[in-house]
Amino acid sequence: MPALDQALRAALAHRQPLLNELYAQGTDCYRLFHGSQEGAGGLTIDRYGPQLLVQSFHQSLERDQLLQLAEQCQASLGDELLLVYNDRSRGNSRVDRSDPVYQAAPEALEDLIGHEWGLNYRVRGRHAGQDPLLFLDLRNARGWVKAHSTDKSVLNLFAYTCGVGLSAAAGGAREVVNLDFAEGNLAVGRENGALNPELPAMQFVQSDYFPAIRQLAGLPINARRGQKLPHYPRLAQRQFDLVLLDPPAWAKSAFGTVDLLRDYQSLLKPAILATADDGVLICCNNLAKVALSDWREQVLRCAEKLGRPVRDCQVLAPAADFPSLDGQPPLKTLILQF
Ligand SMILES: C[S@@+](CC[C@H](N)C(=O)[O-])C[C@H]1O[C@@H](n2cnc3c(N)ncnc32)[C@H](O)[C@@H]1O
Repeated sequence: MPALDQALRAALAHRQPLLNELYAQGTDCYRLFHGSQEGAGGLTIDRYGPQLLVQSFHQSLERDQLLQLAEQCQASLGDELLLVYNDRSRGNSRVDRSDPVYQAAPEALEDLIGHEWGLNYRVRGRHAGQDPLLFLDLRNARGWVKAHSTDKSVLNLFAYTCGVGLSAAAGGAREVVNLDFAEGNLAVGRENGALNPELPAMQFVQSDYFPAIRQLAGLPINARRGQKLPHYPRLAQRQFDLVLLDPPAWAKSAFGTVDLLRDYQSLLKPAILATADDGVLICCNNLAKVALSDWREQVLRCAEKLGRPVRDCQVLAPAADFPSLDGQPPLKTLILQF
């Protein structure tokens, strides 16, 4: 217990300069404690606007520990926050225990609003999915997109709740297309759009990645032998000025398998072809066991083989609220200029 509160104290002190920057840029969603790198593996503490979200992945927290951690965070921030504890250590259950401390106050579970780069985002302590509605380690990528979208057509692949699309719209994109196969995630994307009424409307395409990107890229869609493909929306071949490719680590559908370890190429190749000749592709790989140098080489080789060599390749690291002891954060992001 003392070890945990010392670790949290150090983490909070370490974030002070970052927190000053974040407040100045209109951000109140960030990670306060990144346990795997800061002394308590399997524990994370995030602030999402008015909410303090504690998540445990390996073992449950005791009541006193939870209350003390929450108290320490609030005292350091000088803000009262609504505590939600999601214990994901037992089969990702998130089931409330009988002790009222595990049952968040009703206000904490209401639809709330958090802010990032001056934009409003829907925050929900618990919802149908496992993960929070905004992935905080992608903040710098959203900031980059916001700063580089003026007059661009933008394609946001594996859009989830459309944070990248929203950032592009805020950055002055002339067109934003968000693509994801989960209607529930796109619905939150629509809410995010509605929470920022001054922005131009975004488009939402509910489709599996593979048929959608292959149509955009002008590639054939092949059914496995003897199998009929499910319905998919028809899209015309075209390219975008700015494309964001941030897939999950692994997912299987009737159209193909997303597998960031064994086959990044089949995701990347059509995404490159759907990027304009002088456009930008931002691609991500969040699998910790993939080394940045190996993956970067694979990505550049794939572009070269397609006859689309990369003019400039920039690595974008997550901010200081996602420290990494070995300088190898799980989320790797490359900005490829063609
Ligand atoms: C890790 S999230 C991506 C994070 C997102 N890029 C962001 O900015 O927060 C994974 C998303 O991929 C979607 N997804 C997974 N497999 C898919 C597929 N085959 N086609 C389309 N979407 C898929 C899921 O619905 C989910 O929204």
